[in-house]
Amino acid sequence: MGKTWIMTAGSGGIGKSSLTIAFAVIAARQGKTLILDACGPCRACDLYMGMQNVVTLDLRDVLLHQIDLTSVIYPVPEHENLFYACVSLFRESRLEEVQGILLSLQEMFENVFLDISSSGMNWSLPVFTRRDRAVVLLRPDHVSFRGAEAIVTDARNRGVPAYPVINQMEKSLVRHGYQMNGTTVSQVLDCPVAGEIMRMPDFFTSSIREEHFPVIPTKQMKLFEEIYHEIDSN
Ligand SMILES: Nc1ncnc2c1ncn2[C@@H]1O[C@H](COP(=O)(O)OP(=O)(O)OP(=O)(O)O)[C@@H](O)[C@H]1O
Ligand SMILES: [Mg+2]
Repeated sequence: MGKTWIMTAGSGGIGKSSLTIAFAVIAARQGKTLILDACGPCRACDLYMGMQNVVTLDLRDVLLHQIDLTSVIYPVPEHENLFYACVSLFRESRLEEVQGILLSLQEMFENVFLDISSSGMNWSLPVFTRRDRAVVLLRPDHVSFRGAEAIVTDARNRGVPAYPVINQMEKSLVRHGYQMNGTTVSQVLDCPVAGEIMRMPDFFTSSIREEHFPVIPTKQMKLFEEIYHEIDSN
């Protein structure tokens, strides 16, 4: 039985899709891994991976039209063991139906990485258990921070381990007090920060350069690996 990694954030554009892909690439080296894009019309993982012309079916089609689950799962080119599926989740989706699909996916994959907005997270949280992981991304400023705090608290109250990861830090802003560092965030959130990622100028430029897969700088990949293993081993 695999685990679901809920990749979410308190506000938009913080790096959910980018970090979902980065973590999933690492996980796929160890076992069959699925990127499950639950961002509906705002989804971007397929775009970032050059798959936007390939993906036509949604997991909702399994629910609505009773098509086979395997036909909505697409292999990611050039990445063995890595697969992609998308799901448009709506408040009116019956929880037990979505839960049924998630359970089937957890049977099929060792890791399911769910790219999901905080609003999607609000009502889908009851589906997850202590076996799963919530990775809550935040920019270390006060606006992003408050959203992240609510999600971490919510997840933990429901028994899902939640790990804040700071993304897009800028050293100069931290130094001048415009951004917080990991220690400050840990103190205010009252739980340790799992990792800090710097803002990198040429991070993920694939969709602009029309390459087939995001370019993740080697140094950055090593950092992702450390964060991934730390969270995975907890
Ligand atoms: N550490 C980083 N350094 C530099 N750029 C980054 C970093 N993390 C993310 N980005 C960039 O920020 C932008 C938004 O990232 P991404 O699309 O992953 O965020 P998101 O949370 O999925 O956004 P949305 O809310 O729109 O779904 C992208 O252009 C991405 O390349
Ligand atoms: Mg996104």
